[in-house]
Amino acid sequence: MGKTEISLSSWAFTGEGVTESRRVLGDLKGVFADEAARAAMDQDQVVYEVQMHAAVPEGTPGGLFLGVSCLRPGDVAGEYFMTKGHFHARRETAEYYWGVAGEGALILMDENGDCRWEKVFPGSVHYIPGNVAHRLANTGTETLRVGACWPSDAGHDYATIAASGFTKRLFKGPNGPELR
Ligand code: F6R
Ligand code: ZN
Repeated sequence: MGKTEISLSSWAFTGEGVTESRRVLGDLKGVFADEAARAAMDQDQVVYEVQMHAAVPEGTPGGLFLGVSCLRPGDVAGEYFMTKGHFHARRETAEYYWGVAGEGALILMDENGDCRWEKVFPGSVHYIPGNVAHRLANTGTETLRVGACWPSDAGHDYATIAASGFTKRLFKGPNGPELR
């Protein structure tokens, strides 16, 4: 593996083994409570980008992946811009997240459907245990940047969330974010 570097201020990756993916509003059909409001917005608007460094192929037992998620500020009818969210395909696998820049929320849901959220800010550290679905929301006015480290054999189960969602959603309230 050749040289890979991260910026210590933004956690942007450069060099070998770095891949990037992007989700625009058009990729997020059915993700927000108000689907009509989402469909009426600019479908090319970027909601988030993920950069990751993969030293081993996806699915390799015992390996790790390192990434950074960059989530733009915005909302769909008062519901903060957020990631799709997922359980890991190997449910028992955990993950670390840490806040790099911006203000946000890590929304967590266990397999009983119990939801809670943790405030994400530069320097915040979040341990996501196994069997817990996770998604990020941007509750601020600048891009939320969050580092992540997860097992290379964790995989992603998006289907469960696509079918039944999270039991609660994070909206802009008069006194800040409200989980409803
Ligand atoms: C990896 C992980 C993050 C997310 C990223 C985008 O296990 O949790 O790197 O993949 O924040 O969110 P999703 O994958 O839910 O679209
Ligand atoms: Zn994950």
